[in-house]
Amino acid sequence: MMMQTVQSPVVRILDVHKSFGSNEVLKGIDIEVTAGEVVTILGPSGSGKSTLLRCINMLEEIDSGAVFVDGEQMGFDLRDGRLHRLPDSVVRRQRRKIGMVFQHFALYPHMTALENVLEAPVGIHGRNRKEAREEALALLARIGLADKANFYPRQLSGGQQQRVAIARALAIRPRLILFDEPTSALDPELVGEVLETMRGLADEGLTMIVVTHEISFAREAADRVIFMDGGVVVEEGPPDRVLNDPRNPRTRQFLNRVI
Ligand SMILES: Nc1ncnc2c1ncn2[C@@H]1O[C@H](COP(=O)(O)OP(=O)(O)O)[C@@H](O)[C@H]1O
Ligand SMILES: [Mg+2]
Repeated sequence: MMMQTVQSPVVRILDVHKSFGSNEVLKGIDIEVTAGEVVTILGPSGSGKSTLLRCINMLEEIDSGAVFVDGEQMGFDLRDGRLHRLPDSVVRRQRRKIGMVFQHFALYPHMTALENVLEAPVGIHGRNRKEAREEALALLARIGLADKANFYPRQLSGGQQQRVAIARALAIRPRLILFDEPTSALDPELVGEVLETMRGLADEGLTMIVVTHEISFAREAADRVIFMDGGVVVEEGPPDRVLNDPRNPRTRQFLNRVI
């Protein structure tokens, strides 16, 4: 392998702990994700999956451990041998490296699809509106919604709204996109189009961490499956191995219930 092809990971999660009061929700999580990798996280409700994603983009503050994105420690810097909390302005800049797609699409109802996609690049990043507009239209075309640019969320189906939310996450040109059960709130007949869009992004080489109950997505689009339970990573590996031949009894039990 040539030296320049050796990639440092896009995300490094090191021994992350997180409690809410006396409830320890993350009990020492270690995960690395390399550029272009698609990692699916499976696990029962309450196992800490959403909390982990929220810790990666600093919507929650971790108690101990560290999260690095692109080699930069999120939220802290090391000076004089001690960790110092970074100022909010720096945290906001760090957060912009990460796109996030939630279960509930959370589009702005008073903005069209195009305006929703433009909001972050123009409103937050201060990018040139004309240039950003062209890029936003290209993003809407990429997710198959070029003809819906001027529609308001209420004029779109749930699946179309979630695809706009994906375009909005892409508009900040993130290094990484986190998906938290992006299809769980959708009517069953709308799940396919959203998974199809996500598969397209995976094929394009986007770095993605996807929390989902869609085993078919994990099987077909993921490079690696991580199974979480009780705040720890119980098992991880290639989808074929973990899904067809789970080694941990908890993984086996979970898969028996969902497949
Ligand atoms: N903001 C919060 N305050 C208190 N407890 C929380 C909070 N967020 C999550 N939890 C608790 O953390 C645990 C894990 O939740 P979560 O990360 O949402 O799990 P999952 O996404 O795997 O279903 C649950 O017991 C939940 O009640
Ligand atoms: Mg969750």
